[in-house]
Amino acid sequence: MPLHIRFSETESVCNNQIIVLSSESPTEYLGLGAEELIYIKQQREKQKKDWIAINRYNGWLILVFVKAADDASKRMESCRRVAFQVLGHLNGNGEQSVCLQGFDVAESDILSFAEGMALGNYQFIKYRKDAGEKKNSLEELLIKPNVVSASKLEHLKVSVEATLWARDLVNEPLNQLNATDLANAISEKLRGVGAKAEVFNKKKIESLKMGGLLSVNLGSIDPPTFTIMEWKPENALNKQPIVLVGKGVVYDTGGMSLKPSNSMDTMKCDMSGSATVSAALFAVAKLRMPLHIIALVPATDNRVNGNAYVPGDIITMFDGTTVEVLNTDAEGRLILADALSYAKKFNPMMVVNFATLTGAASRAIGSQGIVAMQVKAEAYYSNLNDAGKLVYERLAEFPMWEEYKDQLKSEIADLKNIGGAEAGMITAGKFLEYFTDYPFIHLDIAGPAFLDKRDNYRSQGGTGVGVRLMISFFAALAEKERKDQKR
Ligand code: BES
Ligand code: MN
Ligand code: ZN
Repeated sequence: MPLHIRFSETESVCNNQIIVLSSESPTEYLGLGAEELIYIKQQREKQKKDWIAINRYNGWLILVFVKAADDASKRMESCRRVAFQVLGHLNGNGEQSVCLQGFDVAESDILSFAEGMALGNYQFIKYRKDAGEKKNSLEELLIKPNVVSASKLEHLKVSVEATLWARDLVNEPLNQLNATDLANAISEKLRGVGAKAEVFNKKKIESLKMGGLLSVNLGSIDPPTFTIMEWKPENALNKQPIVLVGKGVVYDTGGMSLKPSNSMDTMKCDMSGSATVSAALFAVAKLRMPLHIIALVPATDNRVNGNAYVPGDIITMFDGTTVEVLNTDAEGRLILADALSYAKKFNPMMVVNFATLTGAASRAIGSQGIVAMQVKAEAYYSNLNDAGKLVYERLAEFPMWEEYKDQLKSEIADLKNIGGAEAGMITAGKFLEYFTDYPFIHLDIAGPAFLDKRDNYRSQGGTGVGVRLMISFFAALAEKERKDQKR
C-alpha cells in the first residue's frame, strides 16, 4: 500500500520497466524490436496515447511521453497524472514491482512521476474485512540512480509519507480519533523524528483561559487538547520562528446551530488543518531542515449536549476579547483565535493558518485550489504562491479590505462570530486577523481538504492538501536563507 521507493541496484531485476521520455525523443535508440516500434508509432499517432504498455511476457515495458511545456507547473502535474494512469495499469495486472528511468527529461519530471504513483497508490481500507484482496498489488518503485539526486529523492519520500499520514488522520472518524487521540497520535509520530510535542490538557487550557476553545468544547463529552509542536535545530537559519496553526475540530455537528445531516456526513474532515500542520512539521524534522518551526493545534469536537454553548452567549477569549456567539457552527474561528493570540508569545516571523473554515471558500473555488488571504505578508505570500504552483496546490488570493470587518461589529461585545450572507470566507479571515499582530497568511482549505470522489492521484476522502505546499515552501526558504547568509 505505501509504495516503497528506492534507488535500484545494478543487480536489481526489472521485469517491469517504465521509461519517461520527452515527446520529441526519438524511440529508435531504445533497443526496441521493429514490431514494437511500429506498434508505438501507431498507438501514438492513431490512438493519440501519451503512454504505451508493451507486454513482453516476462513483464511490461511502459513508455511515457511527456509533452514539452514552458510552464514547469503544468508539466510536473501532467507527469503526476499520467503516473496515476500507469499505476492503474500495473495494479490491474497484479504487478508488485516496477523500475523507473528517464530519457531526455528533467529530474523534476521523474520525481513528479514517482510522486503521482506514490500518492495515487494510497488506500484507506483498514476497516474492511476484504482489505487483503482490495489492497493494491504494487509495492515497490525502483528508480535508476543518476536520473535523480539522493537528496531530492529523500525530499520526495518524506513529503509523500507526510501527506499520506495527514490523509490517514483525516480519514479516521471521530469514534477512532477524538481530540486526545489526535494529540497522542501527533506526539507519537513526532517523537519518531526528534521533534518536540507538548499537549495541554483541559485543566491547563482552563488555567490559560482559552475561552474560544473551552466554549466550543462545552457540548462535548471529551476534553479539548492544545498541542504545541516544535522543530528547533541548532543550525536554524531564521531567528524568529515560523508558526503554523491548524484547525483541529475532530467533528463538527454545528453545535446548537445544528447542521442538516447531509452537510454533517463528512465533518470528520474538520481537523484537516491540524493534520496538515502536524504533517508539515513532521516532514521538516525528518528532513532535518535548518529552520525553526512551531505548530499549534487547538482540538475539540463541536457537539450538542445539555451544557453546550448557545447562540447569544458572550465568551471571553484567551486574549481578553469578548465575542458574541451568534452561530455555534462558526466554531473554527473561535478555537483558532485562541491559538493565534497564543502565537504572539513566540514573536513569529510569520504565521500560516490552515483550516476547513467556511463553506463559502468551497463554493467560491471548489476543490481545485486553496482560498488564501494575507496581512502584512506580501513577500512570503508570493513565495508560498510559487510553491503552490510547483506542487499544484494553487492559491487564490481574496482581499482583506477593512470594510469587511464592519460585518463583525457587535452592540454588546467586542466582536460577533459571524458576518453577513456575503463573502463568508473573508469575514472569517477578518475575524482571525483581529487576533494577530504579525505577518499572517490564512488558508481556507474547506474545498480541497476532502473529496467525495477520487480526482486522479488525489484519493477519495482526506487529501493531505497543504502538506506538500508547506514542505516545498520551507525547502525554498531554507535554500534562500542559506544563500543570503553566505553573502
Ligand atoms: N467546518 C465548517 C466549514 C466547512 C464546510 C468545511 C464545508 C468543509 C466543508 C465550519 O465550521 C462551518 O460550519 N462554517 C460555517 C460558518 C457560518 C456559520 C458563518 C459555514 O461555512 O457555513
Ligand atoms: Mn462549523
Ligand atoms: Zn467547522
